[in-house]
Amino acid sequence: MMACVDSAELQKKAEKFLPRLFRDYVAGGAHEERTLQANRDEFRKWTIKPRCLRDVSSVSTTTQWLGYDCSAPFMLAPVGFAGMMRQGGDLMAARAAAKEKIPFCVSTFSIASLEEICRVPGADVLAQIYVFRDRDITRDMMERARKCGVRTLIFTVDTPVTPLRPRDERNGFRRLSKPSLAQLASFAAAWRWGAGMARHGMPQLRNLSAYGMGHSLLEQAKNAASQIDPGLTWRDLEWFRAQWSGQLLVKGIMHADDASRCVAAGADAVIVSNHGGRQLDPAPATLAVLPEIVQSAGQDCSVVIDSGIRRGGDVVTSLAQGASLTASGRPWAWAVAAGGESGVREMISLLRREIYDVFALSGHNSVESLRLAGVDVLKRQK
Ligand SMILES: Cc1cc2nc3c(=O)[nH]c(=O)nc-3n(C[C@H](O)[C@H](O)[C@H](O)COP(=O)(O)O)c2cc1C
Repeated sequence: MMACVDSAELQKKAEKFLPRLFRDYVAGGAHEERTLQANRDEFRKWTIKPRCLRDVSSVSTTTQWLGYDCSAPFMLAPVGFAGMMRQGGDLMAARAAAKEKIPFCVSTFSIASLEEICRVPGADVLAQIYVFRDRDITRDMMERARKCGVRTLIFTVDTPVTPLRPRDERNGFRRLSKPSLAQLASFAAAWRWGAGMARHGMPQLRNLSAYGMGHSLLEQAKNAASQIDPGLTWRDLEWFRAQWSGQLLVKGIMHADDASRCVAAGADAVIVSNHGGRQLDPAPATLAVLPEIVQSAGQDCSVVIDSGIRRGGDVVTSLAQGASLTASGRPWAWAVAAGGESGVREMISLLRREIYDVFALSGHNSVESLRLAGVDVLKRQK
């Protein structure tokens, strides 16, 4: 049991359980990992002013966002291969999110299929889609989402190429089709992880199994990554919008001009994200560009922020700067590895509790009250 939502502690527990390939895959960033670091550093520059004598006997962290009832203003961001954190990991996280009333984003690279995740009782699912070179696959993924009753798709736009990620390079992730000797040794060392996996046979990217990406997981990872289309343009966003009549989020927006183009193309929300420091390095921290994107998105398009959200204070800092919702990736992946479904429930409930604490101690009793107060809530450290 953790005392608070300490992601360093979660990471430590997760890393004891995982083989090196997946430890590094989750923790790592691109190139020098400056963006990965900058995301956290930027949150640390902000403090929240305490306010007193404001009757906080009744505080609610709930919010309604694009028709989703959230018990707190965050969701679980799409994390590919999360089912490799532990056998059945992505289903465990989806169940935890459903029980805690938090939306869950299913990655294109999900081990469990979208259909399996949508069968989780009470799950509020958003489906993240990479536009593949083969548009028939993309069309089919949209159709599957529609049939599953998914209301919202996330079009991720910040991955035209996968940059060098030194930790993955060292391990050969997405390069090798078969495990190397070093990988086999690290799998053997993570014997508890391996025993769970072995009980259910070789894991597969079941979300993509209909599209002939190969037999082994490593082969599928390599082939699926090479399917992501580097030639995408704004016309593809228009194409995507025309194919999908539900709600549409564009993920990976870091520039005010790109945000206004998303609004013009009919996006319902943009996600300010640098992919948790896994894509362009050095890119600005997401919090540093949030205000200009909120301004450019205007009233009709809500803004979500991810990358580096770890604590209740980070969520409140984001809301005060105009975000409607926040999302977090690595913390839930580590929580699955560290403790399965109950680990993710604990992570969610502790983050929600921290948000509650920060609301009450800054004199706010709701998301609305905090958003109305805006930057007045904050003080930037010199
Ligand atoms: C291991 C890992 C896998 C990810 N896979 C995807 C993915 O398949 N699709 C996607 O849009 N984003 C993916 N992301 C990015 C997350 O959705 C999110 O933007 C990022 O994790 C936020 O940063 P944080 O980890 O600091 O919270 C992934 C992130 C991680 C750490």
